[in-house]
Amino acid sequence: MTHSQTVEPALGAKAPRILTEIPGPKSRALVAAEAANLAPGVQSISTLSGLAMARGQGSVLEDVDGNRFLDLAAGICVNALGHAHPRYRKILQDQLDDLTVGSFTTEHRAKGLAKVASHTPPGLDKIQLYSGGTEAVEAAMRLAKSATKKYEFLSFWGGFHGKSAGTLSLIGDGTKNGLGPSMPGTFHAPYADCYRCPLGMTYPSCGVACAEFADQVIRHSSTGALAAILIEPIQGTAGNIVPPPEYLPAIQSIARHHGALLIADEMITGFGRTGRWFGVEHSGVVPDVITIGKGLGAGFPVSGLVSTDAITRSAPWGLPSGSSSSYGGNPLAGAAVHASVSVIEEDGLVDNAARVGEWMLGRFREMQERHPFIGHVQGKGLLIGLELVKDRQTREPLDRKVCRHVFQECLKRGLIGMVYSPHVRVNPALSIDQATAETALGILDEVFTQLGREGHWR
Ligand SMILES: Cc1ncc(COP(=O)(O)O)c(C=O)c1O
Repeated sequence: MTHSQTVEPALGAKAPRILTEIPGPKSRALVAAEAANLAPGVQSISTLSGLAMARGQGSVLEDVDGNRFLDLAAGICVNALGHAHPRYRKILQDQLDDLTVGSFTTEHRAKGLAKVASHTPPGLDKIQLYSGGTEAVEAAMRLAKSATKKYEFLSFWGGFHGKSAGTLSLIGDGTKNGLGPSMPGTFHAPYADCYRCPLGMTYPSCGVACAEFADQVIRHSSTGALAAILIEPIQGTAGNIVPPPEYLPAIQSIARHHGALLIADEMITGFGRTGRWFGVEHSGVVPDVITIGKGLGAGFPVSGLVSTDAITRSAPWGLPSGSSSSYGGNPLAGAAVHASVSVIEEDGLVDNAARVGEWMLGRFREMQERHPFIGHVQGKGLLIGLELVKDRQTREPLDRKVCRHVFQECLKRGLIGMVYSPHVRVNPALSIDQATAETALGILDEVFTQLGREGHWR
């Protein structure tokens, strides 16, 4: 039996609800008090909003002034189940009472890992748990070195994999500026971002030339020691960029040709986000390693990697204490994994993501016909990207200050979304129902209509 949870719970019936100016007086006071001790650099969505939150339910967040917002950001894809899912809360509360520390096997961890392995591609059934995304990707890099006895990595422009020393070298955006030097043996190739083709070509007549280009990067830059190619099946941080279907298979054959592993970083795309359990399923590729997180724990900080029995036995990674960490897979993490994956299964959230995502994509395409600054709409499931532009011909991105105006106008109407950049990312909880999605997109449409009338986006 499925316990359909896709009907939004109590708070949702009264959302959005705006009672004060935004941010309200209690938010302003609390944010100012915390600012005395909070270091800068917190996620933009939090800093730009100036909100202090009190609680959440489903796709609704309530701030300390009692204002209620529809949430299209979902903790940047962490919130798979919707805020405060009752069965998730129950499992974690019980675990808190029983045991919280240690690496011993627990019932929840054993059951949770079995559930994860029942959804991963064939052969990928050995899992190690960590606490954050970057830590899991670092572990995948160590695993690739252990398995291949090589040490170089290829990754992609626009890719994001974390902010620790190794992953920082592999990301393809400006986050690493000023934090050099990069790790030796790291190379980057352009990603298949067809709207902004880095090679200036057009799909499909390009023949996916960017994949061939990646092969050329390896041939020209590598010392013949490529351990792995690291790739997001859909690039999240870059703006929810969906590559053409031939791309990932082509990258996999390049990895094989060079005797390297293929690591799919599914931190964002895993656990139903794209309308399938894993993003790689859209292309049929079975990678050697998948890194997981975000929806895996649905709020509890647990990440991990999944690979084959043979690969994970590689030394030193697979030796006793070789792949472990202090908190990875502790009893609370095990409970969170078991709870999250069980709810995704029981509530049919993968199908819900596919269904509501398809509807949202259609609604955005309809908006695109009316709003000239929506240059491009793309997405899979509940991972949708819009490219806001000044001019559809030149595709010049919309000014950030205009995007921030859109963000603030949405907030005033009770909508929280990642619309503060020209690469808009829409990724609500997997449990969002269509009525809630309709209300949320209605608000965005209203703000876009106002922007069109004001005309200052040009
Ligand atoms: C694809 C991908 N990999 C890795 C990370 C790093 O995760 P964390 O911020 O938990 O270190 C992120 C974070 O957004 C991500 O999107």
